[in-house]
Amino acid sequence: MTRLVIFGSGDLTKRYLLPAVAELIAADVLSDDLTIEVVGRRELTTAEFHDQLGEPLADVESEPRAQLLELLSYRQGDGSDADDVRRVVGAATGPIVAYLALPPSVFPAAVEALAAVDLPRGSRIVVEKPFGSDAESAAALNELLLDTIPAHDVFRVDHFLGKQTAHDILALRFANSVFEPLWTNRNVASVEIVWDEELALEGRAGYYDSNGAARDMIQNHLLQLLCLVAMEPPSELTSEALADRKVEVLRATHPWDATATSCSVRARYTAGTIGDRDVPSYVDEDDVDPDRGTETYAQITFAIDTPRWSGVPFVLRSGKALSRGRHEVAVRFTQVPPVDFCPDAPQPNVLRFEVKPDRVTLDATLTAGEGMFALAPVVLASKPSEPDLSAYASVLADVLEGDNVLSVRGDEAVEAWRVVQPVLDAWERDDVPLLEYEAGSEGPTV
Ligand code: BG6
Repeated sequence: MTRLVIFGSGDLTKRYLLPAVAELIAADVLSDDLTIEVVGRRELTTAEFHDQLGEPLADVESEPRAQLLELLSYRQGDGSDADDVRRVVGAATGPIVAYLALPPSVFPAAVEALAAVDLPRGSRIVVEKPFGSDAESAAALNELLLDTIPAHDVFRVDHFLGKQTAHDILALRFANSVFEPLWTNRNVASVEIVWDEELALEGRAGYYDSNGAARDMIQNHLLQLLCLVAMEPPSELTSEALADRKVEVLRATHPWDATATSCSVRARYTAGTIGDRDVPSYVDEDDVDPDRGTETYAQITFAIDTPRWSGVPFVLRSGKALSRGRHEVAVRFTQVPPVDFCPDAPQPNVLRFEVKPDRVTLDATLTAGEGMFALAPVVLASKPSEPDLSAYASVLADVLEGDNVLSVRGDEAVEAWRVVQPVLDAWERDDVPLLEYEAGSEGPTV
């Protein structure tokens, strides 16, 4: 694939996609004749757009950076306008990759605009999350996409599937004989999937304020991780086999309590300090509408009604502006029964898939050395590893190669909305209070 057209010149393009392309250039995995066009609404020359990339590309070495800028041109245009899209795509003879780095609300119009252009055979369309705003709109977007190009050329990107942690979950489960036999409600007491960030809004109100933590993180990234933890073994490592297994999990998943009220927490940060950074209250951030009641912290406990998982709470949480980053999937095993000859009660084993850096740890109990059976907690840990490619670079490499094994299938995106909808509805009805927490704290007190 030699022509990448990125519709949208905002945060996603500058902070994630273009640095990811630079990484692929440095890794020497891109085709020599690749061209990249960024299509944005503002009237800018290519040189002016390049000037805006100083900060986002600050960590990129000078050679790949220079190569990236050489490949990269800027085109003025509105990705949701058929005439603009036709003008940009022009009389393309070869296939293109059309990457929709646009606000989710304009995805349908952008796909319609691409449909009107008659993309060359083999072209791919890449769509970011959130995919739709509920099950119906996600299903409608699927229909639009499938009317435009074949299913295997649609890439619904979730960059968490490009993270090494996601791959480690699969490897640990299916490439080791030790853990999978324990992977059931007989031995697992609970699973926590946590994405606590020190980052606050970072100037993203345009996108974030109409979404909030549950739609930004839980409905997509964290539910995808839940699927990898909970799915039955796929028969092969193909996109279809994986998606079949993930959809089975999603179909069996629902909020822990029937009214979807006592199993969820939503909150919003107030002014505070994180390290040496003063953070304003969320409602005072630029372009935030305080009346919208957008949550910056969301926690939802889900149940999975399968023989394997029935009775095990899956707690999914993500918050912004917290005191410290915690990014992990923690599988908590059941407590051992009391052991007569041990004076101390051992802590339950917890297997953690940690992100940033990637490593797997096991909280275990061994002797402390102060007497034959004095117990002490220990952590058995794998060596932290830096993946060869960042999550976005690995996702982008797959898109350019046409490998959709990690792409989210249409029915997964629809089911994921069905899973969270009862909670979103309860929040909309105000059945669950919107709490507050100070920026730099550990989150709301519940
Ligand atoms: C993005 C969310 O998809 O993922 C952000 O929109 C979040 O709010 C980010 O901060 C976290 O992923 P990463 O890979 O940047 O840590």
